[in-house]
Amino acid sequence: MPFEHGGFAGPTESRSGGSGGIAGRFEGQVAVVTGGGSGIGQATVRALVAGGAAVVVADIDAGAVRATVDELAETSPTLAGPTTGAPGWSEPTTGAFGSSEPTTGAFGPSEAAGSGAGGGAAAGGGARALGVVVDVTDPVSVDELIVAAVEAFGRIDVAVNAAGVSGAYANTADQDVDEWRRVIDVNLTSVFLCVRAEVRQMLAQGPPGGAIVNVSSAAGSMGVPGLSHYSASKHGVIGLTKSVALECSRSGIRVNAVLPGTVRTPMLVRFAGGDEAVTKMGRGTPLGRVAESVEIADAIAWLCSDHASYVTGAAIPVDGGALAT
Ligand SMILES: NC(=O)c1ccc[n+]([C@@H]2O[C@H](COP(=O)([O-])OP(=O)(O)OC[C@H]3O[C@@H](n4cnc5c(N)ncnc54)[C@H](O)[C@@H]3O)[C@@H](O)[C@H]2O)c1
Repeated sequence: MPFEHGGFAGPTESRSGGSGGIAGRFEGQVAVVTGGGSGIGQATVRALVAGGAAVVVADIDAGAVRATVDELAETSPTLAGPTTGAPGWSEPTTGAFGSSEPTTGAFGPSEAAGSGAGGGAAAGGGARALGVVVDVTDPVSVDELIVAAVEAFGRIDVAVNAAGVSGAYANTADQDVDEWRRVIDVNLTSVFLCVRAEVRQMLAQGPPGGAIVNVSSAAGSMGVPGLSHYSASKHGVIGLTKSVALECSRSGIRVNAVLPGTVRTPMLVRFAGGDEAVTKMGRGTPLGRVAESVEIADAIAWLCSDHASYVTGAAIPVDGGALAT
């Protein structure tokens, strides 16, 4: 991986710090990150901002979107500063933008400014981070996300599709069909909807081109008893990624997937039943530990960057060796 970090962390040491050494790598570029309010998506947002990108933080959880954009305004020198004339956060006027309730709209900066809609931006001499509440399972909401991104920043160079859910644990013989459909919808159909909208924009803009990374899973390359819906959805993401990569190979658009192993994120902590349980899960992996989100974000950022200019249609494990066993 060509990124240089502030300090070397050996494979058995986890690294939770920022993505060092990528300053300027995404300067002048615009990125959209779904699932950007938490875990791997949020770590990716931080990495891309550290690289100089203007970033759209897209998530169904309005509070998480808001907190992430607020954090960027506080921590990133490129985003800090007065918000003169730029839109700021405003409280949703109804409960429609809470994490439990899907939304059908995405909210561009002009609407966010004082309108009470569930979006907003952090700015420094111009908005460089935009928060958009989106439901990635809804084609209208996804298309509105892309429109909001282009209205705010003019184009999309990088898209990372990280929104996802773990699904309820049950052997297939006992699995509920609604739960099966929910997981396929949130983890696979959503990626189709996002990639479709992203590719349309990347083909239409001048000059055309871009880099898309879909977040699959090590479970996309092996069976997982009790999580057949999750495994099937993540296998599907890899097939989708390879097919779109070939469709776009002469258009300047690269499309890749990462396959994270076990990563300490709110999703996994919830699924495992606590932080200690997550730590224990890591002991059985070849590296003897779980990953931190930033370790997946670094691989994603590399795939999005020009340093991966000859990489497309790839499904790259970032799994501490899990798929090597
Ligand atoms: N944590 C792991 O061990 C692990 C391993 C392999 C793959 N992954 C994948 O990484 C991705 C990110 O997961 P994470 O672990 O960071 O989880 P996370 O729960 O921390 O983040 C997922 C985000 O997706 C958002 N989201 C869920 N449904 C959405 C929807 N319909 N529309 C928009 N946003 C929605 C959530 O609000 C959340 O902010 C997922 O695709 C997951 O399957 C995670």
